[in-house]
Amino acid sequence: VPHLLTVAGSLRAGSSNAALLDAAARLAPGSLTVSAFTALAELPAFSPDVEEGPGPLPDAVSHWRAALAAADMVLISSPEYAHGIPGVLKNALDWVVGSGELVGKPVGLLNASAASQFAHPQLVEVLTVMSAVVVPEATVLIDIPRRGADTTRLAAEPSIARALGSVLTALLQAASAARPAA
Ligand SMILES: Cc1cc2nc3c(=O)[nH]c(=O)nc-3n(C[C@H](O)[C@H](O)[C@H](O)COP(=O)(O)O)c2cc1C
Repeated sequence: VPHLLTVAGSLRAGSSNAALLDAAARLAPGSLTVSAFTALAELPAFSPDVEEGPGPLPDAVSHWRAALAAADMVLISSPEYAHGIPGVLKNALDWVVGSGELVGKPVGLLNASAASQFAHPQLVEVLTVMSAVVVPEATVLIDIPRRGADTTRLAAEPSIARALGSVLTALLQAASAARPAA
C-alpha cells in the first residue's frame, strides 16, 4: 500500500496548514496510508560537521530521514514567514539534501493562504534542486482562514474536499509512475 507523509511548516498548535493536511489524511482513500511528521522542532540546526560525523547522527535526524524514506510521496503545507520558507522547514529540508531521501519522490505543496506569494515558489525551487518531483497537479492554493481551522469542517467543505481529493489522486498517480508495481 502506498504511503503518504504529511509535513506542516508551522509549529503552531492551531496551525491552519496542519489542519489542512489532517483533512487530506481524512479524505485519503483506503488504497493509501497516511502519517503526519510532527517532530520538525526536534531537529537540531543543520550542520555539515554533525552530518559527516564522526559522532553519531542525532536521533531526530534519523527519524526524519527514516520517515521520508518510508514514504512513497510527501505532502507539505507551509505558511510564509517574512516572504520566505519558515526556518524550521528549511532546516528539515537541509538535513536531507546530502542523504537524498527526497530524490525522485513525488511531492505536493499546499498553500493555505492567498496572502502568501513568496514561500510557495521558493519551496518549489528548493525541492526541485534537491531532485524531488514536485507534482504540479498536487501543488495548489486552498485559501482558508488562519484562525479556527477545524479538520472536520475543512474535510466536509465540498470545494476543499474536491481540491484535496485531486491532490491525493495526482500524488498517487505520480507515485505509481515513479515506482511501478513489479
Ligand atoms: C513571523 C511571521 C511572519 C509572517 N510573515 C508573513 C508573510 O511574509 N506573508 C504572509 O502572507 N503571511 C505571513 N505571516 C502570516 C502567516 O503566514 C499566517 O499566520 C499563516 O496562516 C500561519 O500558518 P499556520 O496557521 O499554519 O500557523 C507571518 C506570520 C508570522 C508569525
